[in-house]
Amino acid sequence: MHLVSIIENKEIEKRIALTPEISKKYIDLGFKLSLTKNYGNHLGFEDEHYKNVGVNFSESEEEIINNADIFIQLGLPKDDKLSLLKENQTLVGSLNSFSNKEKLDDLKKKNINCFSLELLPRITRAQSMDILSSQANLAGYKAVIEAFQVYEKAIPMMMTAAGTVPAAKVLVVGAGVAGLQAIATAKRMGAVVFATDVRMASKEQVESLGGKFLTVEGSENLETEGGYAKEASDEFKKKQEELLSETLKKIDLIICTALIPGRAAPKIIKEDMFKNLQPGSVIYDLAAVQGGNTVFTEVNKIVEKDGVKILGEANILNKLPVSASNLYAKNIFNFISNLYDKQNKKLNINLEDEIIEKTLIK
Ligand code: NAI
Repeated sequence: MHLVSIIENKEIEKRIALTPEISKKYIDLGFKLSLTKNYGNHLGFEDEHYKNVGVNFSESEEEIINNADIFIQLGLPKDDKLSLLKENQTLVGSLNSFSNKEKLDDLKKKNINCFSLELLPRITRAQSMDILSSQANLAGYKAVIEAFQVYEKAIPMMMTAAGTVPAAKVLVVGAGVAGLQAIATAKRMGAVVFATDVRMASKEQVESLGGKFLTVEGSENLETEGGYAKEASDEFKKKQEELLSETLKKIDLIICTALIPGRAAPKIIKEDMFKNLQPGSVIYDLAAVQGGNTVFTEVNKIVEKDGVKILGEANILNKLPVSASNLYAKNIFNFISNLYDKQNKKLNINLEDEIIEKTLIK
């Protein structure tokens, strides 16, 4: 099997799907690997590092595409490369099946097998392949660092001869994978951390990290069987708004992570709630690309509203692309290993395997 990774659309993506360490694992499994020059150079992974473990290099991306059986990517390749893909080839990545539906339908018509890993079921066996978790975890960490960087006061409490610096108070909205890492990171830096979520299961997790959980009074547990959030009722939203409005009076920084799969992000921090925040407060909105959890979030801009700064980027993982690539490459390797029939040295698209069935674009 010939496995390749072609250069990502660098305007939007710095991460890569294949590191030298993981290349060796594929080669040990019996794969042939090809890349074009300078594939991982921008992250310090030089061509020599790949060559040393047995990866081939070619001058021409077209040649690589033509000889490939499997492509591993972050996002979809650029259109000019995508049009070169042919029948029976397999594409694996984070293909964003909702927003790229048309392109993926075209690939399907050409009998190209596309697997999109954001569709993985959240089951124990799939944990080592779970790109959503590995990337969200890093995003949660980095969002806190970015917000703290912009905040103009100290984070931990300091008692000095000149007086006491109070600890910064952080609110984390949405306590899933990103939110929990945000809580842990903010706690490590010495902040006092509050968090809220619509899933009651997250209360215990927040508390185990030393966060204070804010429960919306009389709320039902809004969790699907798959462990995701359900859309909240109007009554819940009203109560959540009251609770958060009151809490914001004592909050310095907010990390927003609330998402509902397949929908726009819920608008949680509304216009009239801003008057309860102190000027100088900072919000990092990880839900920016999905529309944002605040009404003022704009992608890739620092918006200022009544002295409050609101940050949100299209791809925060471009700010720690080496760590993100290392984890992503491992996730994809674990996925391909599960798809690969080692005895017959070919892919086995076994639709009785829930992991394969759920991720295949049909
Ligand atoms: P996500 O990225 O879809 O959403 C982030 C968080 O926002 C979630 O915790 C969600 O409940 C919360 N949220 C949504 N609407 C909200 C609102 N209006 N107000 C406040 N919070 C709101 O979720 P993520 O991080 O991908 O995790 C979802 C679930 O998957 C969790 O239950 C997690 O434990 C589970 N999981 C299971 C894994 C497994 O392998 N068993 C691996 C990773 C996650």
